[in-house]
Amino acid sequence: MSGIVFHSCPVDDDAVAMLLVEAPTVEHHQVALGINESRPRLSWTIDGPRGWRQRGYEIEVCRADRLFRTGFVAGDDQVLVAWPDADLVSRSVAQVRVRVWGGSSEDDEASESPFAASDWSPSTRIESGLLCPEDWSGTAISPDWDEDTSVDNPPALLRRTFTLAAEVRRARLYVTAHGVTEVEINGTKVGEQALLPGWTTYSHRLRVATFDVTTRLQPGANTIGAWLADGWYRGRLGFDGGTRNIYGDRLALLAQLEIEDVHGRVTVVRTDESWQASRGPILRSGLYDGERYDARKEIPNWSGAGVIEGPAWSGVRPVERDLATLTGFDGPYVQCVADVPPVDVRELGSSRYLLDFGQNLVGRLRIQVRGAAGDTVRLTHAEVLQDGELYRRPLRDAEALDEYILRGDPDGEVWEPRFTVHGFRYAEIDGWVGDSVRDHVVARVYHSDLRATGSFECSDELVNRLHENVIWSMRGNMVDLPTDCPQRDERLGWTGDVQVFAPTAAFLFDCSGFLGSWLKDLDAEQLPDGTVPWYVPVIPGGDYWTPIRPGAAWADAVVLTPWTLWERYGDRDILERQFDGAKAWVDLVARLSDDDHVWRSGFQLGDWLDPIAPPEDPAAGRTDRHLVATAYAAWSARHVGLSAAVLGRSREAQAYAALAQQIRAGFQAAYVLPDGTLTSDAPTAYALAIMFDLLPADLRERAGRRLADLVRASGHLIATGFVGTPLICDALTRAGFVEDAYRLLLQRQCPSWLFMVEMGATTIWERWDSMLPDGSVNPGGMTSFNHYALGAVADWLHRVVAGLQPAAPGYRRVRFAPRPGGGLTSAQAVHESPYGRISISWRYAGDVLIVDTLVPIGVTAVLDVQDHPVLELVSGRAIHRFRGLSAQAS
Ligand code: BGC
Repeated sequence: MSGIVFHSCPVDDDAVAMLLVEAPTVEHHQVALGINESRPRLSWTIDGPRGWRQRGYEIEVCRADRLFRTGFVAGDDQVLVAWPDADLVSRSVAQVRVRVWGGSSEDDEASESPFAASDWSPSTRIESGLLCPEDWSGTAISPDWDEDTSVDNPPALLRRTFTLAAEVRRARLYVTAHGVTEVEINGTKVGEQALLPGWTTYSHRLRVATFDVTTRLQPGANTIGAWLADGWYRGRLGFDGGTRNIYGDRLALLAQLEIEDVHGRVTVVRTDESWQASRGPILRSGLYDGERYDARKEIPNWSGAGVIEGPAWSGVRPVERDLATLTGFDGPYVQCVADVPPVDVRELGSSRYLLDFGQNLVGRLRIQVRGAAGDTVRLTHAEVLQDGELYRRPLRDAEALDEYILRGDPDGEVWEPRFTVHGFRYAEIDGWVGDSVRDHVVARVYHSDLRATGSFECSDELVNRLHENVIWSMRGNMVDLPTDCPQRDERLGWTGDVQVFAPTAAFLFDCSGFLGSWLKDLDAEQLPDGTVPWYVPVIPGGDYWTPIRPGAAWADAVVLTPWTLWERYGDRDILERQFDGAKAWVDLVARLSDDDHVWRSGFQLGDWLDPIAPPEDPAAGRTDRHLVATAYAAWSARHVGLSAAVLGRSREAQAYAALAQQIRAGFQAAYVLPDGTLTSDAPTAYALAIMFDLLPADLRERAGRRLADLVRASGHLIATGFVGTPLICDALTRAGFVEDAYRLLLQRQCPSWLFMVEMGATTIWERWDSMLPDGSVNPGGMTSFNHYALGAVADWLHRVVAGLQPAAPGYRRVRFAPRPGGGLTSAQAVHESPYGRISISWRYAGDVLIVDTLVPIGVTAVLDVQDHPVLELVSGRAIHRFRGLSAQAS
């Protein structure tokens, strides 16, 4: 690594104490244990004086046998900086820290003025996982019994005992499964994680979880045990009855426990034919249908050291697994993130209760009961009530029923299902025994444990609730993969939904690893001709969705979602990794389009769920589907060109920029009329044309006016679906009609965002009228109360209402451009960017607009308040006052 040698660097002692570098972060990991990268990139954030700029850094990598320092490296890189040292290999452990040099941005960069140096940051520990197939010495194993896998089977227990001669210095468990698993060592569960190993395209990628289990082991006898259930691998998945055994009909556990004792002796306990198997107390478990558990069938101490009583244990048999497909987790594991007690309990009859948790959420109930052996408690779940009762039709074929059969413990019994989750706000409990339900039932919220990075608030409480609902829909639909909905017999990684929601998601939570992981699956599932699946991972989808057909807006996730991650996290590698797939898609669309570059063929969803579409035909919106398809074709071609430019592929950058221009010209010829109106005189058509820059310059203003006229003519009621809704407020803003955007936002009649809120929604609905104004549930067969797509408006709340926009990848540069309106008197947004916290808050004090901004070190910003000169900002906090402005009433 080149650069000035560290010791020659001048230090400005005065500034040292004021500088603070946080412990570096590693790739997108929250905890760098078991990572899969041999050259993980490092990022750090810096606290320091206002206007301070990094001019150089040094990274230290300390391993057991070597200490490596980069020396002073000139530059201001702080985010996803290349790994400086030799590759990590399997099980490598490194301590990494950073220090930085710099000075105030007013310093002349070329001057000899002394740089200030920070102290070393705290260290971050990195430990790699098992990176090569040869690291695995065992084999995947399955219980040695035959099953009829056309029906539910009880999950299995697998176990093995072993002896350790001495105290343990270090122990790691590496584990994955065909199915879903939870591991126990000496009687207690390892980790807080749930539903491991999650859902990926298993034949391409099977993720391995790594646990530090050092303190779980003891000299003498030990036991490792695992629960193994169907999960996504073998369980019933999909609509219309679904399909079982999608990935195979045999479950399997693959585990390796590596133990080093205090004398340095290594013992490896691996899955092999020495393990035993038994059926356990779970009688059935399905992600959709729920779990049935008979506590009378528990096998005491089955995963504890020592002798166990109970049924005879069977053997196991080896299962084939291509070890080359094993990989690590890029995002966080699924786990319980909150406990929500009921806010209301209604007695429905003897031992029957209706519980309201006050929040539509995703997870499961934990109950504490006391009764006789054989008593059965039934838990049914639903998102909504109708006529005061659980309303479960929207769940379609997902039974969402958990049952617990008591063993009759006089001290009480605590139970929570293991291998299922439900989307619910309400639950009915039947057969309750024991003490007060209210105090003995809690809803446990489960999702991928993403780091919260964004918040928004304004002076309108309904808008705040809307924003809260967006967050809850994100929570509920980020259970290991980005799904459409979390409750019915679907829960699939629909590409279109995440394509439109990703910008919002990336603001609210750090989903770089999470979405990066899903994009790897998308890449694996893309067809050789470039067709992108409707949902990833792919499962059979009936006549409608199988075989996969190319469809705009959904498939464009292959181009636009990596771009979103580049824009929000500055991750060039994701662009690189996904580039061929993005290109293949755009090339396919070019082949499918006519000579004039208009895409007129095939099956298109268009502006899905436009409120005008009848409940049973959500694609029948008011916007020409091929106009939508062609607009997306231009937008994706343009983004492939932009991606190529970032990646230094200048030939492709030019070629795709030119293709984008050709499609744009085709769009204009086919859909834009000489007076600036569009052949589809619908808001979504204008929103696409404006936001995707498809109009000739001389018609932009007229098209913008027409959009505003349409929005007004509809009485500021929503007239857009999945495609138009994420764009409409931005399009109005860009066209100079921000007040109309506010009126759409603040509308309370159906269809509108706040209609949902006024109807008591606590998540975003799939349909504008999932619940009809009379309080009954929409009769459509596809009616979820937890779909994030229409919540994509939150990105506009962040960028335009509060005014916090990325202006360079990773928020390296920020544009604060609040556009107060709608009578709001204040708004604020906070985002934990890769460089640290960025925030803006504005409020009116009389006719003075007070804007408070915070910019982290490494970021430059502009503040653009309408009718005022644009201000350039450096890092630090600043308060600005603008006179002559007042909150306008909507
Ligand atoms: C899903 C959607 C998805 C759509 C595509 C639905 O069943 O829930 O959110 O995008 O199908 O048509």
